[in-house]
Amino acid sequence: MKYTQLGKTSTKVPVIGQGSMGIGGYLSRDARSDEEQIAALRLGVELGMTFVDTAEAYGDGHSEELIGRAFQRARDRVFLATKFSPEHNDHENVLKSAELSLRRLKTDYIDLYQVHWPNPSFPLAETMHAMEQLVSEDKIKYIGVSNFSLKELKQAQAAIGGNGVVSLQAEYNLFDRAIETAVLPYCQEENVTLIAYSPLDQGRVASGDRRIQELREIAAKYGKTPAQVVLNWLISHPRVVVIPKATSQAHIRENAASSDFDLLPEDFNRIRQIFAPRYEQVPVQRIRIIAGVQGSRQVYQTAEEAKENKLGFRPSPMELARDMQDGEVLKPVRVIRSTDESGQYDYDLVEGRIRYWAWVIAYGGDKPIPVYVRESEHLGSAQ
Ligand SMILES: NC(=O)c1ccc[n+]([C@@H]2O[C@H](COP(=O)([O-])OP(=O)(O)OC[C@H]3O[C@@H](n4cnc5c(N)ncnc54)[C@H](OP(=O)(O)O)[C@@H]3O)[C@@H](O)[C@H]2O)c1
Repeated sequence: MKYTQLGKTSTKVPVIGQGSMGIGGYLSRDARSDEEQIAALRLGVELGMTFVDTAEAYGDGHSEELIGRAFQRARDRVFLATKFSPEHNDHENVLKSAELSLRRLKTDYIDLYQVHWPNPSFPLAETMHAMEQLVSEDKIKYIGVSNFSLKELKQAQAAIGGNGVVSLQAEYNLFDRAIETAVLPYCQEENVTLIAYSPLDQGRVASGDRRIQELREIAAKYGKTPAQVVLNWLISHPRVVVIPKATSQAHIRENAASSDFDLLPEDFNRIRQIFAPRYEQVPVQRIRIIAGVQGSRQVYQTAEEAKENKLGFRPSPMELARDMQDGEVLKPVRVIRSTDESGQYDYDLVEGRIRYWAWVIAYGGDKPIPVYVRESEHLGSAQ
């Protein structure tokens, strides 16, 4: 296993860690038995993936409970990272969430405590000062943020002293490389560890025969699997660590062995080129917004509804629209080919329901919106 420095600190973390979102489900529980999941986490740690990431939201606390049970007697062997949910970003609730996480994790300190999502309902400085208080009380060691824009990351850094913000957790995989534009270069420059979540794109790899075939060819050259090559490519970027989630023992073994080789520069560059981000610009009217597509929950149907924001999303579509007008670049929304038979729509929205309406509010519906078209296969089928 290779290690890297955490932020500007002298602490080292393995470049391959373990995610645990699927372990409890996001809000519901994974069907696999608790014992199976505990065994999987322990195996991962045995194999060097000692950085374990969770959140109070995963499985509604159940993921933390399982991790607590898994490492209660081996606390010193793991680096535990957890997060509090955005509705708890006020001072009192940050402290309360930390206490509850400590209890579920069966420990008296959290190595890395992260703001899961920004929430403009609460001043960011208030959230960050609560985190500083937790550091001074030795309840947490380091402070991290997650899903923050570059602007929010800079604001968070400005709000605190000490070791500052040591890490930013953001989605980063072959399908979604949005952070490469500004966020990753900034983290590299400022020594902020970039924790890449969904590094395996939740088990998928972008489809298209040529791309999959090329990935397989590269993997074969090293005697590795496509997933191992993907993880290795990500951690070849300075400051990046990955936290794949795996429950199958075969996957855990594979992931743990994905830092023990070096991609040749020509292969690194080849992957960069063949998986060059494919954004398309699509007229907003050609995208269908319906609830229930690939798990998307409640949605707004009109810009007026989005402006009213009766569902209480934070940031609201209006707030995001203002950010866009101030020059903030938001990542493309995700779509799939539409299942609509009327011919009115080309795509169905699967992710980015707030960003979609923010775009419409900011540009009046006239400007095509950048989208990632999700066409993918599971990594298993690529092997
Ligand atoms: N901060 C945030 O907002 C946020 C959001 C999403 C995720 N996260 C964190 O990031 C972690 C990882 O992201 P993720 O769970 O979304 O997705 P992921 O790690 O990209 O993918 C997980 C999926 O990939 C499969 N897999 C694992 N290793 C594999 C391999 N070697 N070959 C083929 N398939 C493999 C897993 O299957 P099996 O389980 O069957 O082995 C699982 O279905 C989460 O668990 C969570 O801790 C954070």
